[in-house]
Amino acid sequence: MVDLRTQCEFVILSAERLIAGFDCGDTDLNEFFNHEALHYKEQLLAQTGFFRHYETGEVVCAFSLSPNALKIADLPGSRRKKVREYIPREKSLQSYPAFLIGRFGVALTFRGQGIGAQLMDFIKIHCLITYPDFCRFLLIDAYNNSSVLNFYQKNNFSAVFSSEEQERDAYKMNVDEPLRTRYLFFDMIHWKNKSY
Ligand SMILES: CC(C)(COP(=O)(O)OP(=O)(O)OC[C@H]1O[C@@H](n2cnc3c(N)ncnc32)[C@H](O)[C@@H]1OP(=O)(O)O)[C@@H](O)C(=O)NCCC(=O)NCCS
Repeated sequence: MVDLRTQCEFVILSAERLIAGFDCGDTDLNEFFNHEALHYKEQLLAQTGFFRHYETGEVVCAFSLSPNALKIADLPGSRRKKVREYIPREKSLQSYPAFLIGRFGVALTFRGQGIGAQLMDFIKIHCLITYPDFCRFLLIDAYNNSSVLNFYQKNNFSAVFSSEEQERDAYKMNVDEPLRTRYLFFDMIHWKNKSY
């Protein structure tokens, strides 16, 4: 198993340090990491980071991150309560600072070896170190399939909307429209306080 901390170099994508030939098995994500990430950076839309294996030079995994907010008005009542559980003076805040993990992928050759979990832990630490005072939630629009959702659940993410029906309602979608993604959150306060 590859250990990201000792066997790989962490790189923030730039014009000088791009990703090429990355294949996580998903066409859209591959397209983003290999061809679009620099454009997102130049347009001030998202930062992309990746881990490159020291020995082989392969890109093992990659992610993108942008500032975001968890808006209380978007949440159903039960979730509002859950999200505000540990927050003092909750009535004064209409939204909470968050980071959106816009893209997240592990190269096919490294799948199922715990790299995704290592990368997720890295992102949490990265946010806490870089933005220690305002990174309350991590958000992700996760592919709505059981193995991907299982991955995020194992990494302590929860669904913002407790059912697909609620989520469709929030997006004003028809009942028969397929819900391609599920909106998930991770509360960083637990991570900071090491209560996971
Ligand atoms: C989902 C993904 C990031 C998981 O990374 P990983 O390094 O394989 O994950 P880990 O080894 O840390 O954890 C394995 C868990 O991930 C889940 N998983 C999801 N897709 C998987 C896949 N194709 N192969 C293996 N595990 C997968 C499984 O639930 C597995 O749990 P298990 O050990 O109980 O079977 C990776 O499979 C991937 O990049 N997939 C394609 C891109 C994608 O779907 N990204 C998410 C966008 S929302």
